[in-house]
Amino acid sequence: MTTLLDIRDLSLSIRTPEGEARILDRVSLRLRRGAVLGLVGESGCGKSTLVKTVLGVMPRHARPTHGQVIFDGTDLLPLPERDLAARFRGRRIGFIPQDPALALNPMFRVGTQLAEIWRWHAPEGEDRGTATARARILALFRRVQLPDAEAALDRYPHQFSGGQRQRVLIAAALLCRPELVVADEPTTALDVTTQQQILLLIRSLAQEMDLSVLFVTHDFGVVSALCTDVAVMYAGQMVEAGAKRLVLGDPCHPYTRALIACHPDRMERLAGIPGAVPSPLSPPPGCRFRPRCEAAEDRCAARPPGLSPQADGRGVGCIRWDA
Ligand SMILES: Nc1ncnc2c1ncn2[C@@H]1O[C@H](COP(=O)(O)OP(=O)(O)O)[C@@H](O)[C@H]1O
Ligand SMILES: [Mg+2]
Repeated sequence: MTTLLDIRDLSLSIRTPEGEARILDRVSLRLRRGAVLGLVGESGCGKSTLVKTVLGVMPRHARPTHGQVIFDGTDLLPLPERDLAARFRGRRIGFIPQDPALALNPMFRVGTQLAEIWRWHAPEGEDRGTATARARILALFRRVQLPDAEAALDRYPHQFSGGQRQRVLIAAALLCRPELVVADEPTTALDVTTQQQILLLIRSLAQEMDLSVLFVTHDFGVVSALCTDVAVMYAGQMVEAGAKRLVLGDPCHPYTRALIACHPDRMERLAGIPGAVPSPLSPPPGCRFRPRCEAAEDRCAARPPGLSPQADGRGVGCIRWDA
């Protein structure tokens, strides 16, 4: 299968009043066409920052210091905002946000808001007019199983439930026929039953539309249900990535093992392992998991971050798995 998104050795710093925060440290991640990749790790590990870099919506004072973010052969990092907005974000790369309540403007009907997205981001050669937009939005509203789809076009965001609003936003993400959809914890703001329905919907849409999905979560249950591949981050470094079957079934990296062993479902906190995620203002040199790792050795401090390829196809960022 071909690679759609290829993040290579990405480092990113954010200037803060306390100094330079080294948020991402030589992160690599590869997403195949048609794959649903779960990006996991404790809170504060840099998952959202990585996703924002792919979307080109980095926080102010953020600066990529190394690496590339290659989407279908084009490095997105050097592109001016104008090109990113016109050709990639909203067009070939769709986005499903974490909190559907914050992502829609309360002043406008949802049909009007989605028609505006279509007007700006419709694929080349498509009619950008309102009638075409409404027909496409209506078809998508039906596909995401919004009740009373036709009437929904003329409703305001507050007239929907949380789960329905997330369906509206999934339709918005798919509107311009993206190849990649990025979702940052898109179900955490929803109740458990609704979460499950939304996950099943995303999974069936991905299969049907041949989408690649980059799905941020801190829930291994979600990874099991939804993903084909997993990438595990710790403190701004990638520690293990590969097929879900391998990484969840037989984890190599001590951090992946700890995550799975300590907390089968939620990974908010790494129960059972002392210590906390180090501050990006003063990360330990080499492997950033070293201070919490049972198997740590002196040479771990000198090991540069990065995944070593293994015979089964996965990558592991640990000195004991270096070739
Ligand atoms: N705008 C910012 N300024 C300074 N630090 C930030 C900013 N955004 C995120 N961080 C820091 O970057 C690290 C990673 O954050 P984030 O990407 O949100 O992690 P995650 O999504 O995995 O919880 C955290 O230490 C966080 O405090
Ligand atoms: Mg986050």
